[in-house]
Formats: sequence, C-alpha cells, structure tokens
Amino acid sequence: MPKLGVNIDHVATLRQARKIDYPDPIRAAIICQSAGADSIVCHLREDRRHIQDCDLYKLKRVLGIKLNLEMAASREIIDIAIDAKPDQVTFVPEKRMELTTEGGLDVCSGRRRIAKALRKMQKAGIEVSFFIDPDARQIRASKEAGASMIELHTGRYAEAGSKREVKKEFLALKKSASLAREMGLKVFAGHGLHYTNTAPLRRIKEIEEYNIGHSIIARAIFTGIRKAVLEMKELVK
Ligand code: PXP
Repeated sequence: MPKLGVNIDHVATLRQARKIDYPDPIRAAIICQSAGADSIVCHLREDRRHIQDCDLYKLKRVLGIKLNLEMAASREIIDIAIDAKPDQVTFVPEKRMELTTEGGLDVCSGRRRIAKALRKMQKAGIEVSFFIDPDARQIRASKEAGASMIELHTGRYAEAGSKREVKKEFLALKKSASLAREMGLKVFAGHGLHYTNTAPLRRIKEIEEYNIGHSIIARAIFTGIRKAVLEMKELVK
C-alpha cells in the first residue's frame, strides 16, 4: 500500500505570520502521526519563511515515524541536516522569491555538486531522494548521481487545465515512474496533490509514497473551524 507523508510547513506559515508560538507545527505533526501519516515532511528554507531550525530538532526528538527534510543542497542547510539527522532528506531546487517549489531539481546540469551533497548525507546515515520533473533525462542523471529514490514533481499534472493536458501529464508521470523503477529507484510523488487529483494516480503502481501538504492543511480549516468558533463563543458568553 502506498504511504502518505504529510508536509506541515503551512502550519508554521500561519505561526510565522504573527511570529508567535502557535499554531505549533510539532503538535500538528504528532496529530498527523496519530492519524496514520507514515512520515512527516518539512522544508527548512534558506529564508526560514516557515519551518525554523528548532522545529527540525524538535521533530527529530518527538516523532516515531520517518522525518523527511526537504532542502536545497546548499552548504548551510547540509551542515544543519547532518547535525539534526532526519531519516531522509529530499533535495529540492530553491529560489528565494518563489511561492513554493517551482519545478524539479536539475540533476543533469548540477550532477557533480548534487552527487557530492548526496555522498555527504549518506556518510551521515541519512537517506536521500531527489525531487525531479517526470523527465527521462533527469531520472537517468539521478541514477548516475547515486540516488536510490526519487520524488516525481506532480505540479504540472495538478495544474493541467484541460482533460487532454491532465492525460498528457498523467502519462508523463506513469512513463517516468516505470522507467525509474526499471532502473531500481524507489518512486515517490508530490506537489499540488489534493482531494480530487490524488486518487487517479493510484493507477501508477510504482508510486510508493505521496507527499502532500497544502491541501491537507487547507482542508483542516474546514473540518475544524466550526468547533473552533463554538469554543470561542462559549468563552465570550
Ligand atoms: N514534495 C516536495 C518535494 C515539495 O517541495 C512539496 C512542497 O513543499 C510537497 C511535496 C508538498 O506539496 P503541496 O504542499 O503542494 O502538497
């Protein structure tokens, strides 16, 4: 059965909007764990717009499930990851002005630098995945750089407008997943997946894990807001 990794960045986004101590992403991660999440995903961005260094260390201390750190393969973040020792890291491209991770890692052009970062992680006992577009060149370059697992970027599939486009992007994911599996790579998928576009991907049997964040945190507002208002109404009575 495919696994679910829950990305809790946007709980921290809400906290950082006020720079206070709630909502606490660690508490959210513990609830996700008790609800059956197979792993917790967080992204320590270079600009620290949501997850902070101390969140990463706390998550590592309290979680009983896999902690998957998304990160740029930059020297500063590599040093932090080696010190905090998440179970897995996922190398992602990172641009300061982007709203979220736009596009996959370009392993073809950055192969030597990425392979070096991967070896550092592996030496520290941390598993490494590359977040790449569903593109045969990137899959081959990932294998050559020493990856044993990849996460296919589902953004183009999620954003496809017409039925024809959705089909095209679905097929690109399917073809890539099967190529990666043939090469002995584990296949994960994520980005932009929500409550209607995730189920069709289950037809791609090679996908072992889905990493989903924004839609789950967004959904939690509507599954929880009624109770939150009722509780405050009691307090202001
Ligand atoms: N996987 C990776 C590698 C990501 O960078 C992100 C976004 O942080 C996700 C999964 C989750 O994407 P979303 O928040 O759109 O579900």
